[in-house]
Parts: sequence; C-alpha cells; structure tokens
Amino acid sequence: MNLTTVILAAGKGTRMRSQLPKILHFIGHKSLLRHVYDSSVNLNNNAIHVVIGHGAEQVKKTLANLSVNWIEQTQQLGTGHAVQQVSNQIDDNSMVLILYGDVPLLQAETLKALLGKTNEKTLSLLTVNLKNPTGYGRIVRNDSGKVLRIVEEKDASSTEKIIAEVNTGILAVQGASLKKWLSQLNNNNAQGEYYLTDIIALAVEDGFDIATTAPQNEDEVLGVNDKLQLAHLERVYQLQQAQNLMREGVSLRDPKRFDLRGEIIELGQDVEIDVNVIFEGENRIGNNVKIGANCSIKNATIGDDVIILANCVIENAVIGANSRIGPFARLRPETVLATETHIGNFVEIKKSTIGQGSKVNHLSYIGDSLIGKKVNIGAGTITCNYDGVNKFQTIIEDGAFIGSDTQLVAPVTIGKNATIGAGSTITKDAPDNQLTLSRSKQMSMEGWQRPVKKEKL
Ligand code: UD1
Ligand code: CA
Repeated sequence: MNLTTVILAAGKGTRMRSQLPKILHFIGHKSLLRHVYDSSVNLNNNAIHVVIGHGAEQVKKTLANLSVNWIEQTQQLGTGHAVQQVSNQIDDNSMVLILYGDVPLLQAETLKALLGKTNEKTLSLLTVNLKNPTGYGRIVRNDSGKVLRIVEEKDASSTEKIIAEVNTGILAVQGASLKKWLSQLNNNNAQGEYYLTDIIALAVEDGFDIATTAPQNEDEVLGVNDKLQLAHLERVYQLQQAQNLMREGVSLRDPKRFDLRGEIIELGQDVEIDVNVIFEGENRIGNNVKIGANCSIKNATIGDDVIILANCVIENAVIGANSRIGPFARLRPETVLATETHIGNFVEIKKSTIGQGSKVNHLSYIGDSLIGKKVNIGAGTITCNYDGVNKFQTIIEDGAFIGSDTQLVAPVTIGKNATIGAGSTITKDAPDNQLTLSRSKQMSMEGWQRPVKKEKL
C-alpha cells in the first residue's frame, strides 16, 4: 500500500505574536515545517500534502524547494475540515499519515512504528500519557481497554478530564475509510469546529480496531504555540545533536552549551569542544581539533590538529592542519590558511591565502592578500586594500618579514625574504632580500622644555 502524508499547517499561531507564520519559525537551522517534512520524507511517500492558510503565500515562497503539494484552507474550520481539503487527492488504496506542521521533533522511528500497526481494518493513533493533560483531546477507552473515541478538552465531562492519555494529533489510517468518515463529520460541539478526532468513533462503529503507539519520549510530540515552547524545543533539539556528536566521539565540555545550526559533514577523532560554541552551515573537522569557548564557526574546513582558542569568529574559511587560531581572531569569507599557520589576537583576515608556517600574531588586518610561506607579519600591520571604490591585492612572497605597524598600500608586492622596517607605509614594491622602510628620521631637541602648569593662587 502506498503512503500519502498530510501535514496540517493552516493555523494562525496567534500566541507566537509574530508577523512570520508559525511554521516558518526556526529550530536549529530549519523551519518547523521543514523538520516535519524531513521526518516524513524518507517514509516511501507517494505524496506529501501540506494544508496551509495563514501566510500561505509566504510559506509557499519560503519553502518552494520542498517537493510537496500545497493545499489552501481559506477558513480554518477545524482539523477535520483541514483534512477534507485533501480528500479528493487521496487514493482509496493508500495509507494516510496525518502530521502537524507545528510538531517538529517527531522521529522517523516513531512514525514507522505507528505505520507498522496500521492496516485495512486498523486505525493507529500516537498517544501519550501526560501528568497534566489539560488542553488536549483525551483517549476514551472501554473497560477492556479498547479505544472508543476521542473527546476534546472543551467537550469533556469532569470524569473524562481525569484521563491522562491524550491525543497527539498524529494518526494513520486507510484512505477510502478516512474519506468516508470525513464526509460524515459535523460541527455540533463546544467549539463549532469539524474535529478530525471524531473519525475515531466512526471507525469504531465500522468495526475498526484502534491501535495506539507511544513516542520514545514526550518531547517528540510537543507542539509549538509560543516562543517559550519554541525555545524549549530548540534546547531539546540541540541536546539531541550534541548527544549524537558525543556518540561519534566528540568531547563536549557541556552538551547543554553547544549549538549546531547546520551540519558537520566530516568529523575526525578526538575533537574537543569547549562551552558556547556555535556551528552554522556545512563544516568539516579533522582529527584532534580543539575548539575553545565562545567560538562562532560557519562553513569551515578545519584540518587535523588545529587549535582554535576562545572567542573566534570564522566564516567560509579553510584552516590547514596544525594551525593555531585566536584567541579573538576573525576569519572572514575566502580565507585559506595552509598548514602550520598562526593567526593571533585581534587579527582579521579576509579573502586571503596564507602559506605554510606563516604568522600573523597580533592586531592586524589582512585583506585581498596572497601571502607565501614562512612570512612573519608584525603586530598592527594593515593591508590597505580599498581606495573607497576598488579593492587591490597585496602579495607577500616567501620568507618576508613585515615590521610592526606597517601599512601596505595595495596593489603592492613584497619580495622574497624582504624585510620591512617597523612603522613603514609601503606604496611601492619592495625587492627581494632587502630592507625597505619609509620612516621619518628620528631627532631629539637638546634643551627643550616641557610646558609647565602655573600653580593656582
Ligand atoms: C488538536 C486535537 C486534539 C489534540 C491536539 C494535540 C482536534 C479536534 N483536536 O487540538 O485532540 O490533543 O491537537 O495538539 O483535532 N489546523 C489546520 N486547520 C484548521 C485547524 C487546525 O490546519 O482548521 C492545524 C493547525 O495549524 C495545527 C493542527 O492542525 O497544526 C492542530 O490544530 P490545533 O488548533 O492546534 O488543534 P488543537 O485544538 O490543539
Ligand atoms: Ca495545538
């Protein structure tokens, strides 16, 4: 039997107090709807239909790359009404899985278990026992434990309200029967809505069994209604990712203070990560890499035995093996560091290639530069790469030594093994092997007196 997934996502999300439709809010690097999509996309789906309403245009535009069928529910008349919008797209012979767009952390294993219990005569429900079931639909069973129906909080009697087993909203059922029961729904209830949950009683009437499955943990079925729940699930998600990395051998000083808003595509052994490190985008990390506290790292390739000290910001950069970065270094896009480089305190590097064994240890700006091997850049060196309109390149050849507080006005080339005297402003190419400097002569004035303050009377 093929599978059709229906994701309900038309609700407004008033309590988010946001212009952004609820399902477009993020957990990690993915929107809520994207999480739901990802958990179901590998289930051998025949089709995924997403019922949207509030912010429909924005949702479709933002998630245009998802291979789903968007279905608009212009008025939100209830979960049953939402699924009715998809009725004519559902194959009689298919199995239908209902998901919510605002329940982002469902695991594929849980969905597989649910689907495993579904057949031509069995509807399966994902339910969970809650200490505080307030607000949820309750699962009503008979004395022998058979599920009879679901009663919504607002329609429940005081004895029904005591039931701890609640409906998560996630269910699976055979297509033809679902369509039949959908056509029989009415809105004679406390909320005047067409409840999808009313199909349970109709299924029981038709001689169906109702199977229930529990998720592996409660957080899987939690929905997002406000920013507090969003933040809670963000931490749940981040802890899951941290635990996955630790299982792969990463040492995290504190898994609760780690964020991965993207992916680590390649991971070596014996990687150590201190607290408050944030990864974004796609990253590759070699063996024996050590990352200090408070680093923000995006789209980086980090070679073996690299040490990144605390408080570095790294984006779209390649760091060669055995290099040492930071503390307080910033590697901006298109930085390529060869092996054994040292980039130190308060150094900013942009769109530059730095050769093997070269050092930029303190307080420097290196932009649009091509730097050879074993170059030493003294403290406070600045490549003046920009005239306000155009960017120019600085080339520093192998073995050059740039004295502290030098300005290299690009375009300019510093030759092999050249030495630049400290405090120079270099506007012309410096030849190989020579000392080049531009510095006004130092002088001293004999007999000069420093002005003195007159004492107040
Ligand atoms: C629903 C269930 C309840 C369950 C709870 C779990 C019904 C009648 N009740 O209640 O048993 O315990 O979920 O969270 O099904 N939606 C639409 N169109 C609509 C209405 C809702 O797309 O017209 C979507 C929402 O965007 C949301 C989902 O359906 O993703 C659930 O809607 P919501 O209003 O949160 O349902 P509850 O009343 O909480
Ligand atoms: Ca809800």
